[in-house]
Amino acid sequence: MQDEKNQSKYMQLKNRILAFIALILVLSLGLFLITWIQSDSDSSKDSGKEAAELTELDSLAISQEGKDLDPETQLVLGNGFEIVKGNCTNCHSSALIIQNRFTREGWKAKIEWMQETQGLWPLGESEDVILDYLAEHYAPEAYVGRRAPLKDIEWYELD
Ligand code: HEC
Repeated sequence: MQDEKNQSKYMQLKNRILAFIALILVLSLGLFLITWIQSDSDSSKDSGKEAAELTELDSLAISQEGKDLDPETQLVLGNGFEIVKGNCTNCHSSALIIQNRFTREGWKAKIEWMQETQGLWPLGESEDVILDYLAEHYAPEAYVGRRAPLKDIEWYELD
């Protein structure tokens, strides 16, 4: 009698432990499936270079805060933007433009360098439009990453 009671208690305990183990197995399988599916969709989104370029552009966009930017290239939307986009984002990403600051002469020299060594085509009448655009939006003084120099400082004597 006592033995039988003990045995059924033992069976109950055993069943509970088995159920517990089964629960843990199911949960970890679920967790494994979820992480597997997530990593799979991550890697399909990440077509390598494109994703890297986008994040680079996004961080560069911060240096142009406050300006209207083209969502695709992050170039400033301004006079001549379409011509610049059409001529200057074929061989390399717009990041090369955004991360540089030159004077009009500096940009002209870069363009000449690309024409002489990198196969950039003659820009014809577009060249002036492009240079105006670059000199306006990507001039050295337009570097928004740094604040403008302070003016009219009132110095005071330290006691
Ligand atoms: C025919 C292809 C081609 C076109 C079109 C082109 N570039 Fe380039 N450009 C290059 C190559 C190649 C490099 C070197 C890339 C590198 O170093 O990874 C370069 C580099 C640059 C650089 C970096 C220069 C440096 O000193 O680091 C800038 C800025 C630049 N291009 C701006 C422009 C602008 C502005 C235009 C439009 C007028 C333009 N590119 C159009 C081929 C091109």
